[in-house]
Amino acid sequence: MTHPRRRATTLLGRRAVAATVPVAVAALLTAAGPATAAGPTGASGVGDPYFPLAGNGGYHVAHYDLTLRYDPATRHLDGEAVLTARATQRLTRFDLDFHGLKITALTVGHAKADYRRDGQELVVTPERALRKGEEFRVTVAYNGTPAPVTDPDGSLDGWIPTDDGAFVAGEPQGAMTWFPADNHPLDKSSYDFTITVPADRTAVANGVLLGQRTAKGRTTFRWRQSEPMAAYLATATVGKFQVKQYTTRDGLKVYDAVDPREATAAAPVLKQLPSVLEWESRLFGPYPFRAAGSIVDRAPNVGYALETQTRPVYDRAPDLSTLVHESAHQWFGDSVSLTSWKDIWLNEGFATYAEWLYAEQHGGDSAQQTFDSLYATPADDGLWEFPPGDPGSGANIFGTPVYARGAMTLHVLRTTVGDRAFFRVLRAWAAAHRYGNGTTAQFERLAERESGQDLGALFQTWLYGRGKPGGPSGS
Ligand code: TRP
Ligand code: ZN
Repeated sequence: MTHPRRRATTLLGRRAVAATVPVAVAALLTAAGPATAAGPTGASGVGDPYFPLAGNGGYHVAHYDLTLRYDPATRHLDGEAVLTARATQRLTRFDLDFHGLKITALTVGHAKADYRRDGQELVVTPERALRKGEEFRVTVAYNGTPAPVTDPDGSLDGWIPTDDGAFVAGEPQGAMTWFPADNHPLDKSSYDFTITVPADRTAVANGVLLGQRTAKGRTTFRWRQSEPMAAYLATATVGKFQVKQYTTRDGLKVYDAVDPREATAAAPVLKQLPSVLEWESRLFGPYPFRAAGSIVDRAPNVGYALETQTRPVYDRAPDLSTLVHESAHQWFGDSVSLTSWKDIWLNEGFATYAEWLYAEQHGGDSAQQTFDSLYATPADDGLWEFPPGDPGSGANIFGTPVYARGAMTLHVLRTTVGDRAFFRVLRAWAAAHRYGNGTTAQFERLAERESGQDLGALFQTWLYGRGKPGGPSGS
């Protein structure tokens, strides 16, 4: 079993029916703002155990309109973010997540608002309190030299400068390094991007390219991501890219941007994207988005790829199994988002199992063979260091147990319930939580419902059991 490079270098020395979103947010936020003397305030986080300050309480962002101008030579970014939001409680004050860059103006509605910064929290006090249910607009003008954040596992995340632009990937925390956000996957929104770069560079974001215009040595790209997206899946990657655009048989708009230095290696893999998405659509149900594509950068200090929505970003030319993995995330991770970072196996276990299935159905090892060779790993191996359903901290969310033992969990589920029920479960999961969020507990219940079996012991052993699961089949 090879461990693809998308994983960080940290572990094992490898490189590596649903509530609607607002209801889910509201539910999580009932413990929100403490009513202070000044009145009700929005909480500084949504209560994520691994990232307590991620996201915010008291509102939901429907739409982000981001206008950016980046100069790779000076690494200067000018930005304006307009957030259209709705208060889920009365608010005299609320937070955004924003790290680094200088703020030059901030308004709520048409009025200037007071603000103060406290680490990643941007604490905004509007001129007058917002009513529960009120729609409001926050405009933040900002600029400076964006820098990535360092994650608990030591990897870089956010706006990561490259020799010709920037590799922009925000999982789990980095969105706040380039725009003010409600930075937790519980809050999903549509996005518009207007990005201006020197005319010899390309700026690639999510969704559909609405247009591009060159004037006075600069090109402005306009992108639209219509379907709901978590902030961490946004990108605005800039570089010298070769661009290819086409429409698939199914009417999907594909936009590929490739660093010329990676083009030879990337071409045969990117060519497979339509057939990979067709194959995944047969297994998982309809592809959730109207746009697709790939961004292949050369970003030697990154060490991973990210499933940025509609258009994954790769730090170098990907191999086919990495393309299969990031494509599978479009269903598992992007369309169906996690509710807490603790549930990360719902992303990584599923995307890894997609790689196994792809190999099995395309002349490679069977999923059973992959499972068996992993299961042969000695009990003191890092693979068994922690259970995938309870990684323990944000430092472990991209660890091998999440990917490999997460996929093993799905394989044991498959062999237990049989192929028909198993693939029904995958499709039902993607359909029931499409454009929303899901929890591990909801997945367990759905698997039991679809299979008609009691799967409590299976999930207990494989998702939560400490150490290597015992027994001949390991279940
Ligand atoms: N989600 C990515 C993938 O598996 C990996 C990833 C994103 C990552 N951010 C990371 C890995 C930070 C290590 C560190 O496709
Ligand atoms: Zn992944």
